Amino acid sequence: MSAPLSPVPEWTHKDLVSIEALSPAEITGILDTAAAFKQVGTREIKKVPALRGKTLVNFFVEASTRTRTSFELAAYRLSADVVNISASGSSLAKGETLKDTAKNLEALHADMIVLRHSSAGASQFLAERLQASVINAGDGAHEHPTQALLDTFTIREKLGRVAGLNVVIVGDILFSRVARSNIHALLKLGAKVTLAGPSTLVPRAFESLGVTVTHDLDAAIGDADVINLLRIQHERQRKEYFPSLGEYTALFGLTKARAQRLKPEALIMHPGPINRGVEIDSDIADSDRSVILDQVTNGLAVRMAVLYLCAGARKPL
Ligand code: CP
Repeated sequence: MSAPLSPVPEWTHKDLVSIEALSPAEITGILDTAAAFKQVGTREIKKVPALRGKTLVNFFVEASTRTRTSFELAAYRLSADVVNISASGSSLAKGETLKDTAKNLEALHADMIVLRHSSAGASQFLAERLQASVINAGDGAHEHPTQALLDTFTIREKLGRVAGLNVVIVGDILFSRVARSNIHALLKLGAKVTLAGPSTLVPRAFESLGVTVTHDLDAAIGDADVINLLRIQHERQRKEYFPSLGEYTALFGLTKARAQRLKPEALIMHPGPINRGVEIDSDIADSDRSVILDQVTNGLAVRMAVLYLCAGARKPL
């Protein structure tokens, strides 16, 4: 367990708000730290004392299964105390502002706040106003940094590298914080990124980030080393962006026929939750080629690494 207890030399951030703000070395440092924590997870005693005496508040204003649970487990494995708060069970429901709620949590000696919020910029807003560490667990359509970290961790673990790989991200890019964080992480680590989907959800403007945009998934799929299917996020869309789910699946779903055109070693990824039969065929999602549950498992080690590093950079109260 020597690697995680040695601070990453480049790491100076008390918060993790975005992948865009990280350097390639910082991203690699998180992935290396996560690899060491994953190894600890194979031992009989899976807990380490790194955050003993620290209090983490899991503050989820939007629904979550994977992210909330894995942050909670990560904090327990680091020996932190954990409190979970949801929007409906907090005084946000009575009209208290996000800032006031967070300041009150800090007054109760919260050292770290993991925030999921429907508004882009919510984590940055709190990070600038709190001494506590703020970890972005997804803010609107902006970023979901730990999802991109666990995705790149999984790619590196399974394929041995990220640089030079062709990664095709399919679907609802316009509204996807997962896509934005993945684009930044993959490009910083040297991958080639192609975005595929309907022109309404994958506008050409994304090319300014340094990616390729296509509206013809079948033209891109044969060269993919990784295909990452994104969920259609009806909750963020205020109008119809394609004629029907059936047409979406016919053109952009990973159907059995389309999966046969992937390279045999290509990874099939999805951040979850899955709409089975829409963006991915149900049997393909459950097949040996899918690493969807490996992504979830890796989220635990990645979130341990993020909490560990940010806690180390936090200024004392
Ligand atoms: N991928 C992801 O963020 O899943 P949850 O919404 O369940 O956290």
